[in-house]
Amino acid sequence: MARIGNFKSSHGTVETPNIMPVINPNLVAISPRRLWEEFRTKIIITNSYIIKRTEGLKDEALEKGLHDILDFPGTIMTDSGTFQSHVYGEVDLDPIEIITFQEAIGSDISTILDRFTEPDDTREVAEQKVKDTIQRARQATSECEGSIALPIQGSIYPDLREKCAKVLGDLPGTLYPIGGVVPLLEDYRYDELVKVVMSSKKGLGPKGPVHLFGAGHPMIYPLAVLMGCDLFDSSSYIKYARRGDLMYPDGTRNISDLEYLACNCPVCRNTDIDGLKDESDEKRTMMLAEHNLWISYMEIGRVKQAIREHSLWELVEQRARGHPSLLDALNTIHGYWKFMEKFEPRGRRRALFYTGEFTFNRPLVKRILHWIEEDYSPPVKDAPSIVFNGKYLGKPYSRYLTKELEYLLPDYMVNLLVNTPFGLIPLELDGVYPIAQSLFPGYVSYGEIKDLVVWNGKETLESLEKGKGMSLDEMRVRSISDFQFCKGAGSILSDGKLEFVYNRKGGINNILLDERHILSVRAYDGLFSLKIPGATLLKDKLPPPILRIKVNDDSAEYNSQGKNVFAKFVLEAWEGIRPSDEVLIVDRNDDLVAVARAMLNKEEMNVFDKGMAARVRQGIER
Ligand code: GUN
Ligand code: ZN
Repeated sequence: MARIGNFKSSHGTVETPNIMPVINPNLVAISPRRLWEEFRTKIIITNSYIIKRTEGLKDEALEKGLHDILDFPGTIMTDSGTFQSHVYGEVDLDPIEIITFQEAIGSDISTILDRFTEPDDTREVAEQKVKDTIQRARQATSECEGSIALPIQGSIYPDLREKCAKVLGDLPGTLYPIGGVVPLLEDYRYDELVKVVMSSKKGLGPKGPVHLFGAGHPMIYPLAVLMGCDLFDSSSYIKYARRGDLMYPDGTRNISDLEYLACNCPVCRNTDIDGLKDESDEKRTMMLAEHNLWISYMEIGRVKQAIREHSLWELVEQRARGHPSLLDALNTIHGYWKFMEKFEPRGRRRALFYTGEFTFNRPLVKRILHWIEEDYSPPVKDAPSIVFNGKYLGKPYSRYLTKELEYLLPDYMVNLLVNTPFGLIPLELDGVYPIAQSLFPGYVSYGEIKDLVVWNGKETLESLEKGKGMSLDEMRVRSISDFQFCKGAGSILSDGKLEFVYNRKGGINNILLDERHILSVRAYDGLFSLKIPGATLLKDKLPPPILRIKVNDDSAEYNSQGKNVFAKFVLEAWEGIRPSDEVLIVDRNDDLVAVARAMLNKEEMNVFDKGMAARVRQGIER
């Protein structure tokens, strides 16, 4: 669900995830000009309610415009006064007047006057506030021209959040903040924050950008981005500085407790802890604010790199160790694995690193383990299973079992399992991500295999029945296809004479069925790539919409020439498709026009009107 995005306004492009430093126009700490020049800040947020009620400032803003009075050439978002109603009680504002004002002063994104739902609001109160928020969102989007942010409210009631998000998502908003979460953040109620964000995301779908209103501490960024949040606003950098607090990616430390700065930001590298303590109160506060902002940007950069290198789950697991409340949040996130799994590729280019027992709860891991538990059927019917203990083997396990496999297959009627840190895994899946592509510490425990038929050499052989079994490679075609494509794909792709072409290491390169090249093995995740003959077989035997992306006529023409599929032209996509899956591109008549790799899942293909839906590997000339 984490994503790198480009958010465009008439004042430039902002790469997300990103932070919007909060500027209080009456109390500027770091000037917007310095933010732009030194911190390379591309987007800030300020408060239109404060501007409007400050005599002099209001007229100046109306006359010169927001960018001029703040002296900031980038994108400026404005808030509406809702937060002030949370802090000071009801504010005297007209919802349309404040939106009109924001547009009049040249805001790039105006925020409606949503109604702040408190965590301890009763259901009735929260429901009414959601109703009002939706009504104001409808009015603002129908009466105003510019870009509008529509905050999602609903207190801690998941169904209210989901419903509010769904309704707002259908309105022409530019940005979807998740509101009403400041009290949760202030009290470290991160597990409830997870429920709020996830239910909002469920209702909103992949639309964005999503802004987490009031989240200013970098320790929350990895977790929030993992859930699909794109923007954060931060006034915390200055608020923390005023009370002597320094932010770090793993938490907060007060200057009075510090003996070392343990930071190399432009502020800290030019002083030390004693130097910092000797500064005047005002200067020190400024320096802490700058440090806090540098740390925030650094952590955003760290998160973006993690997205690109496919290591965000690891980063979240590491950061969660910094605070028990983050561990609670991570534990709560795992409860959403079935929803999150829809956005998760089956394989990744980077090996899975174990960071603790939580690693087994990642959606990608849960998916394959759940599949083995629920849907896997052993390839040889009514045959016993023999277990090998993977603990003393290298990976992929089967490569260290060539002797044993020679004795066993295909002369004996057996199925094979291997004991791994993930539990018992069918041996034919030993090359599939993350079974082979994972790193564990030596002490990690393997499953209990006492009551099973454990391989014990000759003794085991003598206890078995001879018969027509299956080779391990035939088992691979069956089981991997069933896991990767859908139930039944394995028998379709092995109905005939199978042949295998091997690489130098003994792994499979290509798979032929009745002399036609149907599959190749993807080196990095052990899954298959589909060749045209394989794709044709699957299309003929599996009813629509399985495995398919149906495209419009123009697109079909292009795709058949090998050009990529764009989301805008997708008519229908199968719900089983995951990003990076092998897919069949078909036209309106269900004729195959290309084989491709999906870049998005079904929901994303439906919602996005820009960008690539699938990368075509091979078109079929018509
Ligand atoms: N700032 C912090 N939380 C909120 C919120 O829920 N709504 C608005 N408009 N601003 C906020
Ligand atoms: Zn620093």
